[in-house]
Amino acid sequence: MKPPTARDSRARPLGAPPYPKRKKLPHDRPLWLRPEEEIFFVTICCQERVRNQLCKGQVACEIFDSVEFRNRNQIWYAHLVVLMPDHLHALISFPYEQPMRQIIADWKRFLATKLGINWQRDFFDHRLRREESFTEKADYIRANPVRAGLIGPSEEWRYFWQAKVEIDNATSGKMPRDCGAPGGRALPMLLAAIITLSTACRPDMANQPRAKPLSESDFFADGTNARPLPAHVVARRDVQEEETLHSGLINAAYATELPVQVTSELLARGHERHEIFCAECHGQRGNGDGQVVQRGFPQPPPYQLDRLRHAPVGYLFDVMSNGHGTMAGYAAQIEVADRWAIVAYIRGLQANQPSPSPRP
Ligand code: HEC
Repeated sequence: MKPPTARDSRARPLGAPPYPKRKKLPHDRPLWLRPEEEIFFVTICCQERVRNQLCKGQVACEIFDSVEFRNRNQIWYAHLVVLMPDHLHALISFPYEQPMRQIIADWKRFLATKLGINWQRDFFDHRLRREESFTEKADYIRANPVRAGLIGPSEEWRYFWQAKVEIDNATSGKMPRDCGAPGGRALPMLLAAIITLSTACRPDMANQPRAKPLSESDFFADGTNARPLPAHVVARRDVQEEETLHSGLINAAYATELPVQVTSELLARGHERHEIFCAECHGQRGNGDGQVVQRGFPQPPPYQLDRLRHAPVGYLFDVMSNGHGTMAGYAAQIEVADRWAIVAYIRGLQANQPSPSPRP
């Protein structure tokens, strides 16, 4: 016999179908980023134009570090960033709960404090359309320094950063950038490492892959993440109605009207369920002379007592669900809908059967 692997550790019954093969995932995005996630073209400008604030070795290094930090911690996923002397362009996805506005504002504030960058208020964003391919936009951004006359067409711009998907996908993808930085960087890096370690399982647990309502999908054949309702789905009632349905109470008082519609099917179902669950004690006509009682079990009162005739339907539902005196509750055996069907049927018995004559 094969030695068990980690996968086999949970026993699978003989004849269980094999596990499905994992689909190979596209390599232009990390595994945690859903393929339908939108990409934004973000531009952030410095307050004083023309003066070079961003294209300086150490400043650029710190900016790219902060970008990578956010990628690793799944605050956003930046695909690429280009620094120009007085502004920057980036392609970023924002998959999680925090809105883009807030994430960018936090980032700007962080860089302003740390590097003394004087930003303009706000930023520009533009959602990439499907037809406007990512590569096209990336090329456009990359050519920015050439258009600005900062480098020649064949030269490489130093202040360019691009995500490394393979590293992002590896669990040990916490590679610090090599900025040739002095020892001063040790503390922030240690802190970052501690934060990453202590929050290591957070992104998986708190931020699980999910589809946004009405977003596009390349998983479902019809191209949308919103799934059509299955046939015969009935709208759920509001909370109050649900509450009444399950407890027989409205605002802590017994409901006086049935929360279901009385139809001949409902009464037939109630009749059948009553025969099965109640008649052995209460008798087929509800006058308390069932077989079990005839063999010595305490006799229940007839349903036709005035007290029970006038009892609200919610009370009958409650007795049946939770029991009463020597009678046990039947919530575990009889479904909610069937309990109401029985109540409706009992109301019928109470109306049709004569009041009991006083016992001799
Ligand atoms: C094993 C016998 C038994 C079964 C089965 C049974 N009951 Fe009862 N029921 C009793 C007894 C005994 C009482 C009286 C309890 C007491 O007053 O202590 C009672 C009382 C009641 C009462 C009156 C409560 C009151 O205020 O006096 C209602 C209504 C009732 N049962 C409904 C039902 C319904 C509906 C079912 C079927 C889902 C059912 N019972 C199943 C034995 C039974």
